[in-house]
Amino acid sequence: MQINPKLIKTQFEKSLDKYNENASVQRIMAEKLISETAKLQTEFKNILELGSGAGLLTEKIAKSLKFDNYFANDLIEKSQNYVKNIVPDAMFYCGNAQKIKPSQKMDLIISNAMFQWFKKIDTDNYKNILNSGGLLAFSSFSPQNFKEIRELTGLTLEYKSVDELQYIFEKNFEVLHAEEFVHIMNFATPLELLAHMKNTGVNSLTTEHWTFREVKDFCDKYSKKFPKITLTYAPIIFICRKK
Ligand SMILES: C[S@@+](CC[C@H](N)C(=O)[O-])C[C@H]1O[C@@H](n2cnc3c(N)ncnc32)[C@H](O)[C@@H]1O
Repeated sequence: MQINPKLIKTQFEKSLDKYNENASVQRIMAEKLISETAKLQTEFKNILELGSGAGLLTEKIAKSLKFDNYFANDLIEKSQNYVKNIVPDAMFYCGNAQKIKPSQKMDLIISNAMFQWFKKIDTDNYKNILNSGGLLAFSSFSPQNFKEIRELTGLTLEYKSVDELQYIFEKNFEVLHAEEFVHIMNFATPLELLAHMKNTGVNSLTTEHWTFREVKDFCDKYSKKFPKITLTYAPIIFICRKK
């Protein structure tokens, strides 16, 4: 499926204020990402965070890592308000993470729950932005993510598996940590599940606004196929070092 950055931007702009209280899995991912990164290194001169959103990962970085300069990026301008509340002198690049050209080389590029939106990951770009020996640490989702939604509607992102990520990165990077886990969320009703997806910006999969009948149809089919109303998250934590 092709992902349109404009649509992602619109959906996240709508959900940003509600994001942190709803994004419980993304919070777990951020915690794991930081603890695995801190096992390798805790002090950096320049850190670049991609897709900073409402600052969920920024907060954890500020608590666990030491740095001289902080650079952040998001498609959404408003993200910089969240980042600057946490790191007041941060420099913010608004735009597509795959295209930004920072003014300095980085020692850590880090990103939580954003790489899944990239159809193609340009590893040369990250290699060029990093100082030699610099780390790239990110979390994403594997093809098992939201398997219930895929089975019911056929909608899914082109999620990359851990093996695919290893293959993509091994040319320019030494892979230091690659981990996949599953987290199943339970909901009282399919409607509650839809609200959860909306509040975490995940309904960027489709531009279509569902009619009342389509929502009802989805809910009926969901309860029938998954009577426990589960939603499977399948996160990946991936950390590599520039060769
Ligand atoms: C799931 S949120 C994660 C936010 C934050 N990293 C966290 O830890 O919760 C994804 C964020 O990535 C941003 N985003 C998505 N695609 C992007 C892109 N191509 N370039 C920059 N930001 C992007 C969205 O606007 C959103 O704020």
